[in-house]
Amino acid sequence: MKFDTPAGINPIDRLKVVGQPLDRVDGPLKVTGTAPYASDWHDPQANLAYGFIVGAGIAKGRVVAIDLVAANAAPGVVAIVTHENAGTLGKGEFYVQRFLAAPEIDHYHQAVAVVVAETFEQARAAAALVKMKYAHAEGSFELSALVATAPVAKAGQFGGKPETSVGDFEAAFAGAPVKLDETYTTPDQAHAMMEPHATIASWDGDRLTCHTAIQQMNWGVRDLAKTLGITKDKIRLVSPYIGGGFGGKGTVQTDLALAAVAARVARRPVKIALQRPMMFNTTIHRPATVQRIWIGATTDGHITAIGHDNLNGNLAGGRTEPSTAATRSFYAGANRMTRQRLAVLDLAEGNAMRAPGEAPGLMALEIAMDEMAEKLGMDPVTFRVLNDTQVDPEHPEMPFSTRPFVECLRTGADRFGWDRRKAAPASVRDGRWLVGMGMAGAIRAAKIAKSGARVRLDARGVVTVETDMTDIGTGSYTIVAQTAAEMMGVGIERVVARLGDSDFPESPGSGGQQGAPSVTAGVYAACVKLREAVAQRLGFNSADAIFSDGEVRLGNRAVPLGDAAKAGDIVVEDTMEFGDLSKRFAQQTFGAHFAEVGVDADTGEIRVRRMLAVCAAGRILNPKTARSQVIGGMVMGVGAALMEEMAVDTKRGFFVNHDLAGYEVPVHADIPHLDAIFVDEVDPTMSPIKAKGVGELGLVGVAPAVANAIYNATGVRVRDYPITLDKLL
Ligand code: MOS
Repeated sequence: MKFDTPAGINPIDRLKVVGQPLDRVDGPLKVTGTAPYASDWHDPQANLAYGFIVGAGIAKGRVVAIDLVAANAAPGVVAIVTHENAGTLGKGEFYVQRFLAAPEIDHYHQAVAVVVAETFEQARAAAALVKMKYAHAEGSFELSALVATAPVAKAGQFGGKPETSVGDFEAAFAGAPVKLDETYTTPDQAHAMMEPHATIASWDGDRLTCHTAIQQMNWGVRDLAKTLGITKDKIRLVSPYIGGGFGGKGTVQTDLALAAVAARVARRPVKIALQRPMMFNTTIHRPATVQRIWIGATTDGHITAIGHDNLNGNLAGGRTEPSTAATRSFYAGANRMTRQRLAVLDLAEGNAMRAPGEAPGLMALEIAMDEMAEKLGMDPVTFRVLNDTQVDPEHPEMPFSTRPFVECLRTGADRFGWDRRKAAPASVRDGRWLVGMGMAGAIRAAKIAKSGARVRLDARGVVTVETDMTDIGTGSYTIVAQTAAEMMGVGIERVVARLGDSDFPESPGSGGQQGAPSVTAGVYAACVKLREAVAQRLGFNSADAIFSDGEVRLGNRAVPLGDAAKAGDIVVEDTMEFGDLSKRFAQQTFGAHFAEVGVDADTGEIRVRRMLAVCAAGRILNPKTARSQVIGGMVMGVGAALMEEMAVDTKRGFFVNHDLAGYEVPVHADIPHLDAIFVDEVDPTMSPIKAKGVGELGLVGVAPAVANAIYNATGVRVRDYPITLDKLL
């Protein structure tokens, strides 16, 4: 099915199942610990061996000698994989990192060996006996040293445009009566998801099956095929449950690539669960940024010039963090400039982490907007309302499909009691606490991509949906089941959703907050076909048949849905493809975040007291799972504001605090009551479902709202995240 004109009324609009705050269909499996995650897969016949990864002990250089005598003699050792016996490993398309030093070492903790043994403990013990001799080379590890010299990124190093320009930014900024020119920094951040990267790989002749944790199965199959130099049809990936990803499991990582190689060398199935202390330096992370922002405005608050320069570092050939993306679309202003600069750093690869671009970009832009409002003597909400735009500022012929940003701001201000905020900083005190309120706007691209599904109806009237969509804890199972239930006129208990198997029809998977809108559209397309097949079997005219309450009705005839499958199951498959609506409309999600903090007047301790998010993301498919996504994003945003930072050892070249013992994230005691509400809207330009994703929207804008609240509480403006108490004293 092709979607190329805005959607009209269709069965989804009945909202009997879609749009209801239903519990997760996979909830009982999760809370009873019986959902099989990648490393839980167990087949007693499989003769499974265990792999343990040895990471490079230097950041840059090469392996010059390998001594495996002691390791090979250790109890239980089956095989040891190094570049000497691994064969040539290629690269996938999304990451530039190499999964094995061969023998050049690109970054600290890059794998140099995999020890395979009968048990995990034996593999770990033998790994400690592997002796590597290295030749060191000079590396570059310090982003701040490269601010003056780093060049503009090449087009291939960036998902969008490295440079954009509208009007005459330089002249407009120079002539603006009120202006801001400030630099903001964000640190390297880790995904630090609960479930470490893990894979069990087994070969059957030239066919490879991997139980693994991959957000985007289609990318995983593509990239594994390229890495191993085999064809995609030889690979099956299975990821029915994933314990968090945040982009860190977008596609193939070291565990998957090296489990496949180790299983080939060992000639038996191999499990590799990447040791948690290796996750931060071995896999990808969100790279640190240095961002300079310029805003010029008239004295009555209209933005006339806006500019944004983003710098990050990466391995040679790596991507830029597209922090300027939000600035290109968010606020009005006739003269604009954005620039993405990129320096080579010999740290682990920087790549996608939840809302790549907008998350760090808004951490800078939305403090700048707060500073600018203060310079203008305007309320920060009013300043944003004044500079709203209903067309894409770079493409005035392109309206936003929907943009209730002003409604988000006004609803939020109202609900939060924003009128009680004192504009003068450090003017509210509650005992030892300095109290402040802050807010920030949020914008994040609403993407959608081709997505397929297979649906089966059996004689019991049960509808089974299969797609390679994944559920990284977000609720995919539930919204897939809701969509099929609505389309077929049955309750959700009559639907079985099966996800996370690359043998199922291809979806874009979980990434870029496009999973929910895309995959439900694919399920819609398949269900339209199923309705036609059902009507045909029953001798009904499919256009007039009504699917409701477990029955198919036409005039005064009503037949149980399952009757259509009496002569055998009906199985159909379809893919929703998308035309050019995304080129005719600027499709984005919007939000407004509000935060109240207390800062201890003596110690500088920062406590978040309450938070509110108002989000606009088209139709909300399930208010319960959507709210969970948003409050999860808000918690992550508090971490970004106050805690998260991978400290770089700029001499030896690695992330020092490389596990959850040293990398701080919020715990329950750090988080107050959170409110998340949704603006009532549908977006018919997205798909027949009229929904957009919320997975990344909930994060963007949170950290600057907290930062702005801290300024309001204390009068200290911190432009360097995370905002730790030492920066306030
Ligand atoms: Mo996301 S960073 O596209 O999983």
